[in-house]
Amino acid sequence: MDSPIGIFDSGVGGTSIWKEITQLLPNEHTIYLADSKNAPYGEKRKEKILERSISNVELLLKKDCKLIVVACNTATTNAIEHLREHYSVPFIGIEPAIKPAALQTKTKKVGVLATKGTLASNLFNNTAKLHASGITVLEKEGKGLVELIEAGKLASEETKELLESYIDPMVKEGIDCLVLGCTHYPYLIPSLKKILPPHIKIIDSGEAVARQTKKVLSKKILLNTNAKQSIRHLFFTNRDLHILNQFIDGGETEISYLDF
Ligand code: DGL
Repeated sequence: MDSPIGIFDSGVGGTSIWKEITQLLPNEHTIYLADSKNAPYGEKRKEKILERSISNVELLLKKDCKLIVVACNTATTNAIEHLREHYSVPFIGIEPAIKPAALQTKTKKVGVLATKGTLASNLFNNTAKLHASGITVLEKEGKGLVELIEAGKLASEETKELLESYIDPMVKEGIDCLVLGCTHYPYLIPSLKKILPPHIKIIDSGEAVARQTKKVLSKKILLNTNAKQSIRHLFFTNRDLHILNQFIDGGETEISYLDF
């Protein structure tokens, strides 16, 4: 089936997931919505996150998407249950990777860096309870990080200092795994590697989301089997075109401004 995979995020962060998806599924068309005008979702009330998620889904459905990837931990943990109940299209979500971290930690202490909206959600707290019993989970809200990434300030001194102020206390507490619970944060990995002692593992769920997307498409017989087409990747942002462009490094993509 040659309809596109729809992907949305509060902004540019979900492009980290888009990259994993297009790498694993090179024969799929994609449509990406960057709702940067409304970022950060993590500071919003659950009702507002739900409202934005519904509006993004409606737009992707109008564009004929066959499956929707909620490439945002905050939207997934606050809205995916509602979306699955109200729309028949399959949804793939992303949540902080507590389970793999719990399986890998030797110190029995893992850190989770995520947004306020994710850390406060029932879905996150239930997952933590279910998969991290006997493990100390140190949660930290990455306040301000999404705004810096949305401004393209990935390697600035300001970003590094803010990141250090969040990470250092967890390192002192003895974590050996750091879960990146926000799709914007993989863009901070180069800075994180400078801050973190080398024995601390960085864990994020991007690859797992791509694998799950492939599995669901295959199970529902939705994979694009038409090998002759040229593949299109359409990006829509309601804010800054050139910032989004920095995150997808050109290639076979088309970026447009859309007021949504
Ligand atoms: N990329 C979103 C996430 O994964 C960022 C949330 C926000 O906009 O605060 O949570």
